[in-house]
Amino acid sequence: MKNDFPIGIFDSGYGGLTVLSEIRKSLPNYDFIYFGDNARAPYGNRSFELVYDFTLEAVNYLFSQGCPLVILACNTASAKALRTIQQKDLEKIDPTKRVLGVIRPSAEEIGFLTGTKHVGILGTIGTIQSDSYKIELQKYAPEIIVSQHACPMWVPLIENDVHQTSAGKLFIEEDVRKLMLIDPKIDTIILACTHYPILQEQIQKIVGEKVKVISQGPIVAEKLSLYLERNKDMEARISRGGTCSYRTTENAIIFNKKASQFLGEEISAQQIEL
Ligand code: DGL
Repeated sequence: MKNDFPIGIFDSGYGGLTVLSEIRKSLPNYDFIYFGDNARAPYGNRSFELVYDFTLEAVNYLFSQGCPLVILACNTASAKALRTIQQKDLEKIDPTKRVLGVIRPSAEEIGFLTGTKHVGILGTIGTIQSDSYKIELQKYAPEIIVSQHACPMWVPLIENDVHQTSAGKLFIEEDVRKLMLIDPKIDTIILACTHYPILQEQIQKIVGEKVKVISQGPIVAEKLSLYLERNKDMEARISRGGTCSYRTTENAIIFNKKASQFLGEEISAQQIEL
């Protein structure tokens, strides 16, 4: 059976699709399941406990579908749930399985991207308040001066498809300007929410060419390829059929329409209950 042991990709909603498409470009031969907990998104303003509970449910679901490896393609879940799942839950659930996030791979690269060593992080309230980027950057590039700004409106704007209306554009511009006002020396902005690449061009226009606006998808895809090269046992467990199936806690028709916009291709999801 070809789709028995896919890589699981999880996000609260549609944002992880931006990571999935980059991963599939780098690793086209593997099987994947994408799971969006759209019915309970956004996670960004939710408590630590709730994000942890929801993420653990999602990981257990993906494990039950045969995934030996799950990527939390969500910064909020990576910030609030990953560590506990890796350090406590996996041992009880199945110590041979793995769960990886998106913050550490991004933090490992940031030092190579900035010239001024002044970096801006845009994310959900959950990600920014967790200080996860500052903490991770202390390990990989402690010389970097990090400025952060939370954009609580952005995920709802994107999920409701109003990010390109004049009101939506105003919200986005105001947030970007607030970040740049904290530190005008910023030369690199990390889109630390997997929904935000959909705004990449908009943000790039606001900050101009001198500031790099970085999406995590390509970074996470490259790091995952390296991880699989180094972890041959895990790599051998993943099935290869080049397939991708989609699961959502939302109505599948609604999900299909929106997800197709993110991916630029038609998809057909299955609605599930956790
Ligand atoms: N895409 C998720 C992230 O990267 C968050 C979206 C949400 O608020 O649910 O943080």
